[in-house]
Amino acid sequence: MKVIKPGSTIGILGGGQLGRMISITGRNMGYRFVTLDPTPNSPCGQVADLQITAPYTELKAVKALADSSDVITYEFENVDSTITSILETTSFVPQGSELLKITQNRIREKSTLKSFHVPVAPFLVIQSENDIETAIDRLGLPYIMKTATGGYDGKGQWVIKSKEEIPFAMEVWNKAGIDMIIEQFIPFSKELSVIVARNIHGQTKTFPVAENDHINNILHQSFVPARITDEQRIQAESTALKIADSLQVVGLIAIEMFLTNDGEIIVNELAPRPHNSGHYSMDACITSQFEQHIRAICGMPLGDTTLLSPIIMVNILGQHLNKVLDKIDQLPPTAKLHLYGKKESVENRKMGHINFLGSTFEQIDEEIKNLGIWS
Ligand SMILES: Nc1ncnc2c1ncn2[C@@H]1O[C@H](COP(=O)(O)OP(=O)(O)O)[C@@H](O)[C@H]1O
Ligand SMILES: [Mg+2]
Repeated sequence: MKVIKPGSTIGILGGGQLGRMISITGRNMGYRFVTLDPTPNSPCGQVADLQITAPYTELKAVKALADSSDVITYEFENVDSTITSILETTSFVPQGSELLKITQNRIREKSTLKSFHVPVAPFLVIQSENDIETAIDRLGLPYIMKTATGGYDGKGQWVIKSKEEIPFAMEVWNKAGIDMIIEQFIPFSKELSVIVARNIHGQTKTFPVAENDHINNILHQSFVPARITDEQRIQAESTALKIADSLQVVGLIAIEMFLTNDGEIIVNELAPRPHNSGHYSMDACITSQFEQHIRAICGMPLGDTTLLSPIIMVNILGQHLNKVLDKIDQLPPTAKLHLYGKKESVENRKMGHINFLGSTFEQIDEEIKNLGIWS
């Protein structure tokens, strides 16, 4: 059985904050890091041993990343299949390319989940303008149009609320030039997520369920433990484990879910990597999602994921950064600040997060409100 031991080099495709937090954690464990990213001095490049600065599609650079790494991982899912095949032939990619292929396309992702009998929102693939109209009869209104590939933080999706918006929906589809789906709008009471780790040997472990609030489709805050019943928690965890096992995941998989008004769990989407809604684990769990990811891909036993304290994780977007810096001396002593080293602070760009620990959500929430950063 293959174990990649500390001292070895982990290559990361992508130089963003997820790669940065994998590298910071992995360096503590004694691993070395090399990252490939087109932006010089990327968030991950700043803390890695080496950054190869080139486009992800530059084959020579991809080969160089693979040549200098004992094991390769990635921090985003839109990796081209030519790239993964170069990585796989030159280096060790325990996560494989199959999972990427599934999760980078909503049609494949939802069809695969359906084949495992995992509940997903009813959907259809748009094949003609006519489908955009008849979708109203099949899925009702409002419905959500989503691009099959490339969407994130609500980009590439449109909520269609009335018949009057059908010409607009047709225009969007005609302009998009890529596959699109229409999804039934799920009236949910909460959004939840579960991160599961599965290592090369098939051992699995879930992280505590997070309850996520989005603003403008961007994650704003996560509450852990999620305020749900034991039954709902067991349902969320077992659904997540079933997905990880069925897909034979190696590494992490994050599963976004809706808890419907009727108390049912419906899976929204998957991410085969560390996830923003798991950042709480850095300060509130025995093992963080980043350490767990490294353990999983390196073939080590998975760490304990026990939650040590109630926590609210709040994202710092571009528009919040200056306020956070202005109030840095007012942060409670139990707040843990994480900044990603991004040069340009742009509206809605994820610049960092704060993990607020405490004894109750009421108390933590009051501390957050008193700061007046996000209101
Ligand atoms: N079918 C749906 N019903 C209700 N809300 C939805 C639906 N799909 C997406 N949303 C809302 O939009 C957000 C972003 O959609 P998601 O599919 O997760 O795309 P992204 O890749 O942008 O995260 C979700 O977190 C949820 O709040
Ligand atoms: Mg999402």
